[in-house]
Amino acid sequence: MTEGPSGASAASTDGSPRDVFATDSVSADLDRVSETQVAIVGAGPAGLMLAHRLSRAGIDSIAIDVRTRETISTTQRAGIIESDAARDLVELGVSDRILRDGYEHEGVDIRFAGASHRIDFRQHVGASVWLYPQTDVFIDLAAARDRDGGEVHYGVSDTRVLDIETSSPRVQFTDTDGARHEIRARYVVGSDGSRSLCRHLVPEEHRQQFFREYPFAWFGFLTQAPMSAPELVYTHSEHGFALISQRTETLQRMYFQCDPTENVEHWSDRRIWETMQQRVAGGDGFTLKEGPITEKSVLVFRSFVQQPMRWGSMVLAGDAAHTVPPTGARGLNLALHDVKILDGVLQRALGSTGEAALDEYEPAALNRVWRAQNFSYWMTQMLHTPTGASPFDVRRQEGELDNVVSTRAGRTYLAEQYTGWPSHG
Ligand code: DHB
Repeated sequence: MTEGPSGASAASTDGSPRDVFATDSVSADLDRVSETQVAIVGAGPAGLMLAHRLSRAGIDSIAIDVRTRETISTTQRAGIIESDAARDLVELGVSDRILRDGYEHEGVDIRFAGASHRIDFRQHVGASVWLYPQTDVFIDLAAARDRDGGEVHYGVSDTRVLDIETSSPRVQFTDTDGARHEIRARYVVGSDGSRSLCRHLVPEEHRQQFFREYPFAWFGFLTQAPMSAPELVYTHSEHGFALISQRTETLQRMYFQCDPTENVEHWSDRRIWETMQQRVAGGDGFTLKEGPITEKSVLVFRSFVQQPMRWGSMVLAGDAAHTVPPTGARGLNLALHDVKILDGVLQRALGSTGEAALDEYEPAALNRVWRAQNFSYWMTQMLHTPTGASPFDVRRQEGELDNVVSTRAGRTYLAEQYTGWPSHG
């Protein structure tokens, strides 16, 4: 247990974390060495949901994140959760707050040429989604980790992931008090988001990166105003895309298509509301209920997949392995699906199957990843008008949208993709 950093130390298999205070024989610059079964790099919703699932199976983990808990809790992200994922949060004992503070949505509005068309999820595919912000999913998971005695270090720095090609990988980091730690684990999970450090540990000659950039971004804002619509409204207009979403009866979340280099400081409340009202205007007289704007940010668009999702003793999950543009709110749902699969895979890998179980992960996860890539790309290209779009381009998009909302096949397709696919987990 106190072998040098390059020595192969056995990970704890009894489910209990074991701390070793470093002596000079361990490494002069380590203040604390811990053993666990799974080291999780990235303690956002994917990392913490995995830690929660594993602890239910008696598997011990330690999670770290470079961001502070406060930063993760307050960074605005998407707000749509598939009903299977919502049910998991409740049934697996994370929290039942989603049932009280969330809103179940049984449809969505697609708006174009100045008119709205509701797609009824319940009618077409017997499904629904939950409006519940990703920040609240994180807050619930972090509280569940506290409650269950899970070890999570936020605000860490100088993270190093070592020896992933061996059966005793290590993760080193410096905590907020300046103490240098080493976690010795059997497996490492890289759930460290779209700016992942872990993904770069797959050797360049062995990894493939698929990506696509988009010539636009979203300007997202929060406003203290009543709801303008009871469900989400995805709006196509010749002036660009707009999305009306909600948070509570008195706080709303909205987005509009903007240039990726847009500076939020150049946007007064008046200018934001004029832009939004122009994009949603139509023959039905629909207008947005305005209020003061309390938060503004620009969200960049990117489609990205890295394969393989596993290298040696390390696996990638969520945005670290794949990023989708925000249209359709697939990102968090995809990440939660990855960790659902990973939970079972890691249980088998730490049990009698051994490391071979890790081979099951990528094929099971990737199928949904590419479906979600397609859906997010499809929604994005159908609803956004690139700068320089010709009148033909705009009318063709309206034709595509009309095919979606006016045919049973189109409505069913959108409803099925939006609410998620059956799980392989
Ligand atoms: C939200 C974000 C999305 O990207 C989306 O497609 C739907 C809703 C949101 O923040 O509420």
